Parts: sequence; structure tokens; C-alpha cells
Amino acid sequence: MTATIIDGKAIAAQIEGELSQRVKDLEQEGIHPKLVVVRVGDDPASVSYIKAKGKAAQRVGIAFQELILPESTDEEELATRVRELTGDTNVHGLLIQLPLPPHLRIEPLLELMDPAKDVDGFHPHNLGLLLRGAIKGMVPCTPAGIIEMLLRSGNDPAGKHCVIVGRSNLVGKPLANLLIQKRPGGNATVTVCHTRTPDLAMHTRKADILIAAAGRASTISADMVRPGSVVIDVGVNRVEDASRPRGYRLVGDVDFQGISKVAAAITPVPGGVGPLTVAMVVANTVKAAEALGRKKG
Ligand code: GUN
Repeated sequence: MTATIIDGKAIAAQIEGELSQRVKDLEQEGIHPKLVVVRVGDDPASVSYIKAKGKAAQRVGIAFQELILPESTDEEELATRVRELTGDTNVHGLLIQLPLPPHLRIEPLLELMDPAKDVDGFHPHNLGLLLRGAIKGMVPCTPAGIIEMLLRSGNDPAGKHCVIVGRSNLVGKPLANLLIQKRPGGNATVTVCHTRTPDLAMHTRKADILIAAAGRASTISADMVRPGSVVIDVGVNRVEDASRPRGYRLVGDVDFQGISKVAAAITPVPGGVGPLTVAMVVANTVKAAEALGRKKG
């Protein structure tokens, strides 16, 4: 079997096209959606992710600002900036790029944000709504992007056994919650595996849809995949490669070459989940602008 490659870039472009129309409608009402991303320090991966978010915002026609603060910024200074941005009625979407330098905690900062502007969906209010199955909250972008990707590539998770490898707050936990929701994009049976799961392969081989979000290259090999399954690779790992101009290349968490011979469909890295995450940041900003900008009174 040769797996179909699920083209994340093409699916993201389709979503961005739909968002552009909603932005035009907002503009006609005098609402100008704006996304602000806060970066503390110079983590190279964060720099490149934020660049991608800025480009997507531009394509869709929303305003974008990156607020860059020095590595030495303390929690109180950062809290002051977050309070200012949360209070700024021109700002509809706000996120703090992770990881933060080790001396800063994200949790108290999230709690200062207006949940309606929390386009990452990491505020406890939004996570609570997700757990409850409400549709009005902000949903974390990578999990939301994976659901869109599955639906739009003809791999509806309904009735399927989805196995997630990874239990992070960013991906594994919210994704498991989305997949079990009783509505489109959900209705799956979900197994969540992690670093303390004995015999990982026993679980991954049972997956109709396998989602690798372990954050470690080569976590999933071809023998761990059920023939004919769908494999979604969330990993973005840098491996040294002297033949590349930057000295590294990006790989996911799965053995792409080997699994392509076994699976029915697979996402590439780069060009798979990444563009969907970016598209969903913009989607959440448009959703926030619709809710905040059209609010009466
Ligand atoms: N760093 C890697 N992924 C993400 C994300 O989805 N949101 C934020 N804020 N930072 C990240």
C-alpha cells in the first residue's frame, strides 16, 4: 500500500479562503479583526511559528502585531502587558507564544486574559467549556486543526478508534476531548497513550486513526501501525543535517518513509498539521472578532 499524503497546506488554504470572506463581512460592519502574539526571548522555533501566523493573518486580511519582550522580562512586567492587551478593544485575539523562558509561568498569565480573546483556548474557562462539550468557547488550535484535517480529507473520526500518543495540555488532552464529543468531528472511541504506557505498540496497532504527538522523533515505526490506518503526525523535531543550509531538517514523530508503505493516509512534516494550527489561530481570531465586535452595548 502507498499512503495518500494529506496535504495540510491545501486544506489550510481552503480554510483561509473561507475566513477571508468572514473578514470582509466584518470589515463592512466596521470591525477590523486584530491578532497580537507575545513573544518573550528569541527561541528560534517560536520566531518561525510566529512568522507563519503573521503571514496567514495577512493572507486572510486581519491585522497582526508581534510584541517582542526581552528574555529578562519578569512575570509582573509580562502581566502588565497582558492586562493592557486584554483591555484594548482593538485587539480581538491574544496569545503568548510557548515555551516561555523557564523563570516565567504561563498559568497566572492566562488567567489575566479575557477568555473571549484567548485564541489558544488555554484559559481554564475555555478548557472547561471544551470538557463540557460547549461550542462557544475557544478550542486549542492544533487539536481543532486536526479535526478539520480529518473531516476535510474524508477521514471522519465518527465510529473510529483513535489512538493518541501524547498527553500534553496543548495537544493530547484537548484532542481526546474533541474526538469524544457527541457532534460532527467527534463520536470516536479514544485511547490516550503516554510515556508511562506499557507496550505502546499493542495500542497503536489497534488504531484506525493514529495521532502521534509525543514530541520525539522516531516514536512510531512502521511495525507499530495497522495496515490501512490513517496516521496524523503532530511532531516537529529538528534533526542535524549538514546538507541543509540551516544545518537541520524538520521531522515528525513517525517514520514517514516506512509508514507510507503501510498506512492508507499520512500527514507530512512539514506541510501537514502545522499549517492547520496556524489557520486555526486565525480562525479563532475571526471568531473572537465576530463575538466581541458584534456584542451590543
Ligand atoms: N508553541 C507551540 N505550539 C503552540 C501553540 O499552539 N500555542 C502557543 N501559544 N505556543 C505554542
